[in-house]
Amino acid sequence: MKKRKISIIGSTGSIGRQALEVIEKLKDKFEIIALAGGNNIELLKKQAEKFKPKYICSNAPSPLCGESLSDGLKLLQGSEGLEQICSNNENDIILVACSGKVGLRPTLTAIKNGIDIALANKETLVMAGDIVMCEAKKYGVNIIPVDSEHCAIHQCIKNINQVDKLIITASGGPFLHKSIDDMKNATVEQALAHPRWNMGKKITVDSATLMNKGLEIIEAHHLFGFDYDNIEVIVHPQSIVHSAIEYVDGSVIAQLGLPSMHIPIQYAITYPERFDGIKSKSFSFAEIARLDFEKPDYDKFPTVKLAYEMGRLGGTATVCMNAANEEAVFAFLDGKIKLYNIYEITKKMCDEQDLIQNPSIDEIFAVDEQTRKKTNEYIAKFS
Ligand SMILES: NC(=O)c1ccc[n+]([C@@H]2O[C@H](COP(=O)([O-])OP(=O)(O)OC[C@H]3O[C@@H](n4cnc5c(N)ncnc54)[C@H](OP(=O)(O)O)[C@@H]3O)[C@@H](O)[C@H]2O)c1
Repeated sequence: MKKRKISIIGSTGSIGRQALEVIEKLKDKFEIIALAGGNNIELLKKQAEKFKPKYICSNAPSPLCGESLSDGLKLLQGSEGLEQICSNNENDIILVACSGKVGLRPTLTAIKNGIDIALANKETLVMAGDIVMCEAKKYGVNIIPVDSEHCAIHQCIKNINQVDKLIITASGGPFLHKSIDDMKNATVEQALAHPRWNMGKKITVDSATLMNKGLEIIEAHHLFGFDYDNIEVIVHPQSIVHSAIEYVDGSVIAQLGLPSMHIPIQYAITYPERFDGIKSKSFSFAEIARLDFEKPDYDKFPTVKLAYEMGRLGGTATVCMNAANEEAVFAFLDGKIKLYNIYEITKKMCDEQDLIQNPSIDEIFAVDEQTRKKTNEYIAKFS
């Protein structure tokens, strides 16, 4: 593989840090153009010292902004800085690994500049999947999924026209075999104790409520162009089968592997090549011994049903659901509401939304903002 020039948006987060571990193992394959983070400027600087990018970008206000640092390193700031990174045609690929809606505009900028995207940020497709995929097609840009489930499907699909169904696996999170009451009274600590994956706090809470699976169904719909009727969720507690597809003739192809985000991250940033990079140990069916599957309990995890409903509604329905859910998750993490309130609040906001079909990007951001405001006004009544 020719040395690939890469930038990482969200390098200080869970996905970003693991991406840098992959790059460290494959240092002769990559040159880092830019690293961008939010507020953790100390870690960003440490990463810059180690990986020697040309630019770093932080969302934190800093007196160093705009000045050249040692070794010619340039510090950029905020959304303007992200735009500068994503319009820099030196990049072959940009890993969008920031959390939240901040990923959307830079992704669109990179696409318009013909730069391939390794996409971890869920909000990009949940908020604006139609626009993003349409632009990617127009500019001939590859969107390579990082999420283990979509990465699995990406690996399984040979001829998309012959695929009947996508089967997305879900670990079930920490409350899989707990009662609804246990879930209702769960503490933040319990919700963050994911049995399989070590991730950022927001996505970990979404995994506990299974909203994460709901967001993944919407992403899969946009990434692979499948109707919601042809996307199925199956609970698989061991997280060994990362997802599967069923062909029209009934053959099922699944992708398996030990639960490690290093593997899908590496796949996405080295695609279509594969390397013996960060693989820690060889896969053994004998050691795994058994794989379990069960239908999701939609009474306990109604978030998945809500995501199907909002996905089918289309337009700004998924924008509303995403914004309300995110604000409710933050409120739960701040101790303002209970875990189960997250669904109730999100459902109420979805029920009361003013749906816009075929929204522009500005309309998407306006709906996002209005929903967050309304959600927080409603959350205030809980205390
Ligand atoms: N973690 C996983 O295993 C996983 C799997 C699949 C998909 N995803 C998706 O990937 C995304 C990142 O997840 P994560 O778990 O890595 O989250 P995380 O650990 O919370 O990290 C979030 C990253 O985004 C950065 N960030 C936040 N606001 C920013 C801003 N305004 N400008 C630039 N950067 C900003 C943070 O910077 P600071 O820390 O410096 O503030 C941090 O680097 C999410 O959309 C998540 O749903 C994650």
